[in-house]
Amino acid sequence: MDKMVIYGGEKLLGDVRISGAKNAALPIIVSSLLTDGWNTFHNIPDLADIRTIKKLLRGLGAEIEGESSVRIRTGEIASCEASYDLVRKMRASILVLGPLLARMGRARVSLPGGCAIGDRPVNLHIKALADLGAEVELRDGYVEAKASRLKGASIYFDIPTVTGTENIMMAACLAKGTTLLKNAAREPEVVNLVEVLNGMGAKISGAGTDMIIIEGVDSLHPVETTVIPDRIEAGTFMIAAGITGGNVKVSGCDPSHLDALINKLRDTGMEITIGDGGIRVKGNKEITNVDIKTLPYPGFPTDLQAQMMAFMSVGMGSSVITETVFEKRFMHASELKRMGADIQIKGNIALIRGVLKLKGAQVMATDLRASASLILAGLAAEGKTELSRVYHIDRGYQQIEKKLSALGANIKRVVNTQAEGI
Ligand code: EPZ
Repeated sequence: MDKMVIYGGEKLLGDVRISGAKNAALPIIVSSLLTDGWNTFHNIPDLADIRTIKKLLRGLGAEIEGESSVRIRTGEIASCEASYDLVRKMRASILVLGPLLARMGRARVSLPGGCAIGDRPVNLHIKALADLGAEVELRDGYVEAKASRLKGASIYFDIPTVTGTENIMMAACLAKGTTLLKNAAREPEVVNLVEVLNGMGAKISGAGTDMIIIEGVDSLHPVETTVIPDRIEAGTFMIAAGITGGNVKVSGCDPSHLDALINKLRDTGMEITIGDGGIRVKGNKEITNVDIKTLPYPGFPTDLQAQMMAFMSVGMGSSVITETVFEKRFMHASELKRMGADIQIKGNIALIRGVLKLKGAQVMATDLRASASLILAGLAAEGKTELSRVYHIDRGYQQIEKKLSALGANIKRVVNTQAEGI
């Protein structure tokens, strides 16, 4: 397994260009299942998760060409089954459930299972599909669903689930009648998917609010579109500028997707200027600690919580971080403590007391955003940090070490050809 080797202490300076959003590209690629012609999607990021979803769709019969601009046609759907070995690698695979059901009238998708940040149930997806008239059964670890034609319904989500909203929207596009989605997710990635589906001929309104209305149509046609920039990648680089006291222009991002983070980073003493096609962020010598509470969009994103914990661990005071979205998304804390961070965890609350300096150490990535957090800590730490299991980071960041090196970071990827001992 590859690892990253970082020597800390360099200020990040220069311009970084943000790639397409992983969490927009995944549902948009899956939406091609709803049409039988050639779709073209631009600004697709080069990530492990994108390769996984393409492999899954090819297994269902899709023809797929291209990398950053991807052409997809699912004229013939050869299979309606998403197997465990693919779904367990990426839980977003559950997104094929709704489109397969809507297009083919049946679907058999493995339950994703949990991951490092939580159990990740899909009960809300399943309940909503049943509300749309599907017969849904759980058998041998798979969701088995069938419906001759889905029927519009009024659906309430107990939690504004992001992929749940996306799954049900895609299913409801081809249902007979109108569907109301109440307490729907408001993330920009959901809004991007609605734009794509409406471009295919769907009739969806209310995107970006907690009430989405989908008027069912009989069929959809292919579309050409461009995926929005990745707000979590952008936020990660903004925090990297803060923790290294650097001065970075984050280009090609959409500042309107980052209000919660911009607000918090300004409170830490960073200077943030919006304009000229991006955001310029300047770190401050003195880092003021802030409290963070993660919430569904437009609240502070849970996907930036780990990165902020690294940043606050070198502040001048103390921070309380409350994680309300996932039940165990503090795996990075123990690794940060091995670098000298002072962090106490009580349930879903972390108390961070700032220390003068972190110390480089051998650390291990446990999940995608925890890996980003440890890289940020390594950039600021004294000495050498070795991060193992970097396959986690490759799921969601396109060539992060190249982008950081171009900003002056001393970071290298060491390709380890031997399989590491168990
Ligand atoms: C999406 O995951 C993102 N992934 C996650 O990003 C992100 O952290 C999350 O939304 C929250 O913003 C993609 O978009 C591919 P949820 P998702 O359903 O849809 C509970 C990253 O790092 N829940 O909004 O799986 C769930 O357990 C990833 O890029 C149920 O209880 O998240 C969680 O506690 C990580 N039952 C909460 O809701 C359900 O049926 C929010 O989950 C569904 C969800």
